[in-house]
Amino acid sequence: MTSKTWPLPFWIAHRGAGKLAPENTLAAFRLGAEYGYRAFECDVKLSSDGLPFLLHDATLERTSNGQGVAGELGWRELSRLDAGTWHGRRFAGEPLPSLEAVARFVIANRFALNIELKATPGRELLTGQVVGSEVQRLWGGSGLAPLFSSFDPLSLQGAMQSAPEIARGLLLDSLRSGWLDEAQSLGCGAVITHYRLMDHATLAQIHAAGLRALVYTVNDRAAAQTLIADGVDGIITDAVDQFSPA
Ligand code: G3P
Ligand code: MG
Repeated sequence: MTSKTWPLPFWIAHRGAGKLAPENTLAAFRLGAEYGYRAFECDVKLSSDGLPFLLHDATLERTSNGQGVAGELGWRELSRLDAGTWHGRRFAGEPLPSLEAVARFVIANRFALNIELKATPGRELLTGQVVGSEVQRLWGGSGLAPLFSSFDPLSLQGAMQSAPEIARGLLLDSLRSGWLDEAQSLGCGAVITHYRLMDHATLAQIHAAGLRALVYTVNDRAAAQTLIADGVDGIITDAVDQFSPA
């Protein structure tokens, strides 16, 4: 497995293809790829029986026809849900993908993946540990490796325990005290902030520590131009139809 080499190109499609297709489904990945994207961010959590799958929210209602806390259902039940119709009838029947299905798709296409560890509350450490092991199994021998990211230090710690060689990034929605020390103690290769937080001083601080500085979720052209001129190392975007990754 490619170890600790930086796994992502500059442009990363958020949740597959942002808002143009049902987020975190293979339909979204395919659409993102049609726009030329070769790297994708997705949100991963565990079913009650410990299988990693893609879903942003803790609950099922917004992006599927299921109900309740997703992590309280087994994979058998989750795999039967419709995660496409909420977005539009042309996506009817689109399933919630397992991480394994996504791994097959991205490895076959030589695409890069940013796995955001988005644990069901209370399962942060376990989610990192299990997804770390799964990534070793799924990507092993492919010559590729994903990037782990999380807002939750416990999830990154779990991934560090089970898959120490896979690169990690700390996600930040605020510059809380000690954030850079936290990223360093978790062995992160990157800090990924909300784009409005990435000012010159913050960018310089991240780079001075030898880490990469990435931003989410940039959908505005002027904001993207400024961040590129300032020297960010990667942009996560919904606007796959606006920004060409070429
Ligand atoms: O990984 C960047 C971004 O996805 C974080 O926010 O809520 O879209 O998962 P969210
Ligand atoms: Mg995310």
